[in-house]
Amino acid sequence: MMCEYSFNFGNVKSSVCITDDLPCAADVTGNDNYLIVCDSNTEFIARRIFDKSGQNLPQANICILKPGETGKNWDSAEAILGKASRAGLDRSSVFIGAGGGVVSDLTAFAASVYMRGVRVRLVSTTLLGMVDASVGGKTGFDLFGIKNLVGTFYPAEKVFIPVSSLDSLPKPEWKSGMAELIKTAVLAGDDFLAMVKTLKTGTQNLGAAIAKAVEFKGRIVEEDPKETGHARILLNLGHTFGHALESSVGFGKISHGEAVAWGMARSCELGLLLGITSKERVAQIADVLRVFEYNTKTPYPGMDIKKYMEAIVSDKKIKSKKLRFIIPTSFPTAGLTAGTASRPAAAFGAQTAVLEDFSVLERLINGEYSV
Ligand SMILES: NC(=O)c1ccc[n+]([C@@H]2O[C@H](COP(=O)([O-])OP(=O)(O)OC[C@H]3O[C@@H](n4cnc5c(N)ncnc54)[C@H](O)[C@@H]3O)[C@@H](O)[C@H]2O)c1
Repeated sequence: MMCEYSFNFGNVKSSVCITDDLPCAADVTGNDNYLIVCDSNTEFIARRIFDKSGQNLPQANICILKPGETGKNWDSAEAILGKASRAGLDRSSVFIGAGGGVVSDLTAFAASVYMRGVRVRLVSTTLLGMVDASVGGKTGFDLFGIKNLVGTFYPAEKVFIPVSSLDSLPKPEWKSGMAELIKTAVLAGDDFLAMVKTLKTGTQNLGAAIAKAVEFKGRIVEEDPKETGHARILLNLGHTFGHALESSVGFGKISHGEAVAWGMARSCELGLLLGITSKERVAQIADVLRVFEYNTKTPYPGMDIKKYMEAIVSDKKIKSKKLRFIIPTSFPTAGLTAGTASRPAAAFGAQTAVLEDFSVLERLINGEYSV
């Protein structure tokens, strides 16, 4: 399969190319001076890109990071900048990130500050990276124990999504990415959700599902590149509840995807309670979460409810003591086409709801409104 999208993120052009195989070296480097960044699990993918093109990948041009979220820190950003400087990269050079969301967030961040900004290209190698992290220009790393405390908006000029690179992806990473894919499908439309459900039994629709997710996210970011409007925030569906769960059971004890899936179930319940989500819609979403074997029961095993509530009320989306949640809604019956400007939020299959009575949230966690 081969498909390409071209996006305009606040006047910055960004293209995303979805293919079966890895791109060739000339495509990723553009034959310019480059630094390729990967982690120790994706190094073989970076090397394969050059091997298959019969090119040499000099040690000076590769920066290998520690894998995973624990490596998403200033030390890694500094390592990239140091390596680029030692390799003599200048303003016309290009940074290439080959890996999952951690590598792409770090590489794009480093590119955004190196010599006041050099070009960045990404080769995405995880499901989560493909459907979410590589598209839309958010970069960054964790600092003082706070996720993505430091970051910039800096879209990659080119993103390569070689679907076959997922062959080596460990199973838990699939589950993590799948939750974001389900989230996108919940926002994007019933047909998409039905397509995602088929991925449980076979991967024949995988490339097409990734392509749909890329297009959907890209169009949302085009409408609201810096999350200052009403569109991009919807991509946080399930995340307020999910992040709070992650911090209450302990980061690393539950995968981000598991937490987001659990959070989507809570968003559904809150939607029912507020009368903005129908029972049918909740059943449809719960069914897909069940098919992919996410634990959506509440309270989640090992969760500390006090810590959970503290995390909820310190959420980034809090404004003047009111909490904002993203709630799934039904789609308008009129046709839904991605990419039309200034649609009402509900046209995305979700809307924001403001909550002042926090006691509802505690009762939600205790399973009082469980569906
Ligand atoms: N910028 C954004 O808009 C955005 C959106 C969502 C998430 N994120 C960020 O993305 C990060 C999570 O991304 P992730 O889930 O891709 O995690 P990750 O980058 O840590 O990758 C997960 C693991 O899989 C390994 N891996 C990657 N590709 C592989 C492959 N093809 N074969 C074998 N192993 C492979 C990695 O080395 C790592 O151990 C988080 O830090 C999150 O904040 C960013």
